[in-house]
Amino acid sequence: MHAPMPSVVISRFVIHQSSSQWNHNRFADDVRLGLTAKPKSLPPKYFYDALGSQLFEAICLLPEYYLTRAETEIFERHAAEIVAQMPGSASIVELGSGSSIKTRLLIEAILARQTELYYQPIDISETILEQSASKLLGDYQNLHITAHISDYTNGLSSIARRDGERVLVLFLGSNIGNYTPDEARQLLGQIRGALRGGDGLLLGADLKKSSAIIEPAYNDALGVTAAFNLNLLLRINRELDADFDPARFEHRAIYQEKEGRVEIHLVSRATQSVRINKIGLQIEFDEGEIIHTENSYKYDLAQLYALAEERGFRPQRTWFDSEKRFSCNFWLAI
Ligand code: AVI
Repeated sequence: MHAPMPSVVISRFVIHQSSSQWNHNRFADDVRLGLTAKPKSLPPKYFYDALGSQLFEAICLLPEYYLTRAETEIFERHAAEIVAQMPGSASIVELGSGSSIKTRLLIEAILARQTELYYQPIDISETILEQSASKLLGDYQNLHITAHISDYTNGLSSIARRDGERVLVLFLGSNIGNYTPDEARQLLGQIRGALRGGDGLLLGADLKKSSAIIEPAYNDALGVTAAFNLNLLLRINRELDADFDPARFEHRAIYQEKEGRVEIHLVSRATQSVRINKIGLQIEFDEGEIIHTENSYKYDLAQLYALAEERGFRPQRTWFDSEKRFSCNFWLAI
């Protein structure tokens, strides 16, 4: 682990680049490891290159993808009540902040009760951090942003705290769902480790429900989620000089009710071989063979409460959207 290095400073905006563990070699290693494993897999964090991040923003606008709208509805109705869980002066840290659109509602609720706010978004995409910070700073004159271009672990270890202020960590959008239960437990432990008693965590988690609602959210009629998934192959072509033909793979999303997760796959439409020149690898695919690219776990309240208590939080309050599809959970660090 390396110390973060400030790279840009513009008045109310500071951006830190955590040293480059996020580089091509790491990508190449993970691609090699995943595509030579059985079954083949690729880590979902690699969805989010410049194109993938934009495709994800488009997913959030799809009629089938209820998650973003449900969470936004919760903030529209309850932002004041949510931030009231943390009396006194507070600052915000956000894991995987992306475009920070929903966060605005919480920022406004906090700025309605204190004169200035320090916001520390942590994201792996520099472009998204810069774009969203510039919009936020233009809109809120009393907002200060220290952005961290980083994975969560490094970002959490570099968050700053001001005297007398409590920290509210936001982990929204059901990002927790893309971790296995063990990884989620570990990450929540890391979040708790970065906090003090009296700080808070606001966790957005999608809820278990019928596959008739969940599956279309991950297999939309326009094919945006398919493009998001297939872009992973194009990213390997671009960055590792490979010759994947995306037309020879199909997007698939299946809700496995027993495990409580959507499994996202790329399925080979034919027997084929693909060369990845930069790592000197030739990969063979059978017709119907899958690359497992993502899991999206859905939770129930009992699981969430157990997780909170196991990791040193007291679950204080949960809010739902009007259709009870999605939950926002305020946990107090104890
Ligand atoms: C970022 N994450 C919470 C999304 C999800 O719902 O699991 C990623 C996603 N994958 C396909 N569609 C959306």
